[in-house]
Amino acid sequence: MSRRLFVTSTGTEIGKTLITCALAHQLRGTDTRVLKPVVSGYEPDQAAASDPGLILAARGEAVTEDAVAAIAPWRFRTPVAPDLAARLEGRAMTAAEVAAFCAKAGDAVETLIVEGAGGLMAPIAERETFLDVLALTRWPSLLVIGSYLGTLSHTFTAIETLRARNLPVAGIVISESERDAQAIPELRRSIAAFLPELPVCVVPRLAGPRPWASAPTLTQFLVEKS
Ligand SMILES: Nc1ncnc2c1ncn2[C@@H]1O[C@H](COP(=O)(O)OP(=O)(O)OP(=O)(O)O)[C@@H](O)[C@H]1O
Ligand SMILES: [Mg+2]
Repeated sequence: MSRRLFVTSTGTEIGKTLITCALAHQLRGTDTRVLKPVVSGYEPDQAAASDPGLILAARGEAVTEDAVAAIAPWRFRTPVAPDLAARLEGRAMTAAEVAAFCAKAGDAVETLIVEGAGGLMAPIAERETFLDVLALTRWPSLLVIGSYLGTLSHTFTAIETLRARNLPVAGIVISESERDAQAIPELRRSIAAFLPELPVCVVPRLAGPRPWASAPTLTQFLVEKS
């Protein structure tokens, strides 16, 4: 039995890491790996504040250089889209390489969670985006969306895009936005009207140094596959 989940989002800074950390925290003590294969804006001397650093902390693991490198092999200092960051730093990656890394890293584990970089179609190479990684792995996506004004169009566009490539969607998590937030019940109603088959969970604004620890249960989005 194996469970695979790709945490993606309608854009950057929406809440993927928070949701990935919540899952990592809720899955402590189980046979789980959590990856953040591509990360830009990574400062080695501030590793604890980086996405892979937060993921390790949520799992209760030490944030060492080796531990970060093992879950995030493509780390770029420049805080721009991965394709540009790679080009500026004289490196390159392909969707096939990222997908192969994820598949190998998850080879022997029961549960594998992968956080994307940026939004669903963030470019990772000259003519490839993260969607191409999803298309290669074909693992279900958990789409993290905000509650800001305009989120519905972004959400429906992302779902249509996934469906156009015949990719499975595990569900939607609304991570409450700090700014321009709309009423969550109204958002839920619209999502249910357009996408009645998709499970939706709401993560309210969470505070504190370990916000993921107080997130609602999200493990229902992990589906067993034999
Ligand atoms: N529901 C929430 N409650 C409190 N803070 C939140 C919530 N959702 C997101 N945030 C905060 O917003 C910021 C951006 O979220 P996060 O880092 O999870 O986004 P991301 O989608 O992973 O971004 P990136 O594309 O850079 O990986 C973080 O400081 C995060 O803690
Ligand atoms: Mg992140």
